Amino acid sequence: MRIFAVSDLHTDFKENRLLLEQLSREEYTQDVLLVAGDIADRLEVIGETLSLLISRFARVFYTPGNHELWTRNEMGDSVEKYFRVIELCDHLGVATSPEKKQGVWIIPLLSWYETDPGADGGAERVEGWADFYFCKWPDWIGSPSAYFLKLNEPHIKTYDAPVVSFSHFLPRRDLLPPVEHLRFKQLPEVAICEPLEDQIRRLGSAVHVFGHSHINRDLRLDGIRYVQHALQYPRERNGQTELVKVVWG
Ligand SMILES: [Fe+2]
Ligand SMILES: [Fe+2]
Repeated sequence: MRIFAVSDLHTDFKENRLLLEQLSREEYTQDVLLVAGDIADRLEVIGETLSLLISRFARVFYTPGNHELWTRNEMGDSVEKYFRVIELCDHLGVATSPEKKQGVWIIPLLSWYETDPGADGGAERVEGWADFYFCKWPDWIGSPSAYFLKLNEPHIKTYDAPVVSFSHFLPRRDLLPPVEHLRFKQLPEVAICEPLEDQIRRLGSAVHVFGHSHINRDLRLDGIRYVQHALQYPRERNGQTELVKVVWG
């Protein structure tokens, strides 16, 4: 068994759907795929994409990204949307909670970015960021980040085998390049969930896969390997050949 990773499939773009259809039907039948969020916002697109991946891999693990929690086409708020997405996964047979696969624990983690409370105006100054228009948070939630991290807590413990964890958002600032190299300068305001790093350390992850920034990385920091392998938007892709990246095995 090998473990592969991908994120940011954004299959509301036809080009991305067509690319995924090219995934081999034979090569991955003994393997596991981790999907680190941002498939699409429409449930039928999420369902179609997960079904395609299920047909290629032995087991698919998934954690939603920010696009999944947009409610522009839905009734209800983003927390209700989250539960609808999880229900869809249960129905399709996609794993959204920890499982041990051939001696490796795979731990999906929920997260949301935290904005710097000291920053002037906080996240509201990130002009044009779609989540501020398309996500709808219930009044009781306080901080979406704290809400989702709390849902992870029952799974944060010591496991009896190596751990591979994954999240949509970045647990550390240093997984982003310095701001002068960022095309979208305000990305750090809407990408990082620092308390997630504490959960990853408590899990003792050997590898942590993440998504969201669309900036592919593979680096070791303080003993953990952090990997992003985003399919990206069609306009961002430049010569990446492997659709999925092996992170274990
Ligand atoms: Fe994305
Ligand atoms: Fe994202």
